[in-house]
Amino acid sequence: MPANIVVVGSINMDLVTTAERMPSRGETILGEGFHTYFGGKGANQAVAAARLGARVSMIGAVGSDAFGTEYLEHLRTEGINTEHVRMRPGPATGVATIIVSGGDNCIIVTPGANATVSPDDIEKSRSLLREADAVLVQLEIPGPAVEKVLQTAEEEQTPVILNPAPMQPLSPVYWDKAAYLTPNEQEFEQLRSEYPAVAGSRENVVVTKGAAGVSILRADGREEVIPVRTADVRDTTGAGDTFNGALATAVAEGMSLEDACRFANAASAASVEKEGAQNGMPVRSQIEGRGL
Ligand code: RIB
Repeated sequence: MPANIVVVGSINMDLVTTAERMPSRGETILGEGFHTYFGGKGANQAVAAARLGARVSMIGAVGSDAFGTEYLEHLRTEGINTEHVRMRPGPATGVATIIVSGGDNCIIVTPGANATVSPDDIEKSRSLLREADAVLVQLEIPGPAVEKVLQTAEEEQTPVILNPAPMQPLSPVYWDKAAYLTPNEQEFEQLRSEYPAVAGSRENVVVTKGAAGVSILRADGREEVIPVRTADVRDTTGAGDTFNGALATAVAEGMSLEDACRFANAASAASVEKEGAQNGMPVRSQIEGRGL
């Protein structure tokens, strides 16, 4: 039986310019290329999990525009249930303006319809959360909706993986409702300064560290490093999302957290070898047997 995963989060079109270097403040430089790719942390994580064999439903919102229509079609092609993705009249589908240079990126997200995802939307999708093996949520949708996900999943006894990206404030009580936290190094530092009790004393914080792999932090202070294979890096956009989608799939299938991190590392290493957040996301056969 495939793992049943619900992803609650953002849906963006990524407007990607590649350049030889990042521009400085106030500077104009010439770019090398431009592409439009499917992106958004929520949708990226949903696609990553679906490609790895999970049954995925997404909760989110797009605008009633060409990007929104195209994106819904894309999610369906990836086998994702879009019944709980609302098409909202008014705001545009979210976009991310991205500059990629030397494999690295800078991103500005304009949330558009993502900003309309509300606690009421989550309540209306309660049955999905009840039936899921795991729920995956990030912070690119409004805080009250994320808090409602954590509250509802707790009531329905479904574990939540909270990817605190990009970092935004939540009421302190909600951080403890997540079964797993998956910040990157910067987000972990923010978490540590703003919510020291959360970062310092709980089980199952997984800090993603790019080419250095991940660290699993335990409540007793132990830190276990899970390395990642060397990749031929073209574009790191979406690598963290691939990790999270894969981690949710593996945890929902019953893997130990260590094995789930190995599996997710293999998926994220594959993902950076193509340009665009989703183009390099692997299917299961591409990563199985790679020394997991
Ligand atoms: O994590 C990468 C994603 O962040 C991009 O696809 C972009 O849309 C932003 O949401």
